[in-house]
Amino acid sequence: MLVMVPPHPLIKHWISVLRNEQTPCAIFRSAMAELGRLLIYEASRDWLPTISGEIQSPMGVATVEFIDPREPVMIVPILRAGLALAEHASSVLPATKTYHLGMRRDETTLQPSIYLNNLPDKFPEGSRVLVVDPMLATGGTIVKAIDLLKDRGLNNKQIKIISAIASPPALQKLSTKFPGIHVYTGMIDPVVNEHGFIIPGLGDAGDRCFG
Ligand code: PRP
Repeated sequence: MLVMVPPHPLIKHWISVLRNEQTPCAIFRSAMAELGRLLIYEASRDWLPTISGEIQSPMGVATVEFIDPREPVMIVPILRAGLALAEHASSVLPATKTYHLGMRRDETTLQPSIYLNNLPDKFPEGSRVLVVDPMLATGGTIVKAIDLLKDRGLNNKQIKIISAIASPPALQKLSTKFPGIHVYTGMIDPVVNEHGFIIPGLGDAGDRCFG
């Protein structure tokens, strides 16, 4: 498994804004969206299908490459907070399709359940899917989400995970269950407490995004 923490000062900046308990809801959400924009940009490097051709510029003929719109990258935001992290996906990537996945973790058992599943029955061959969830804490939610994707025909190499903060237990579960999968995260924090919160983390991302 590849875990990438892109060493970019803007990523550190937006994580710092998110961590601050004084950051109000609207700013928190836009910081999350900016962080998502940067992480999605990094994750899409060397991953997008292109088509080439020739274009007449005002000064001559140039060989050019465009993103192939026939093979859109698919975005799977895990509700709720994944919506904020994925907000700029369509402005970073010229061709995207979005499939929403609503998952909620029980506060006592920490077990995730699914309340909305807009995934297709089968992903087309060669699909590329970005799963977007700000917090990888115990890892239960993301593992269940990836299981759903694999049930629909994807392999580990076709999936990349985008998160704001990841924790060692979640990364451990992902590497055991899905070797070969790629994770792009803004930061790795060391601890998940007995209530399933990442420490120091940034609190409950869903509540901080949506009140
Ligand atoms: C949070 C978070 C992840 C999940 C991580 O969502 O956004 O989806 O918990 O926890 P895990 O790694 O221990 O499974 P939550 O269930 O609180 O839903 P919300 O986004 O609607 O607040």
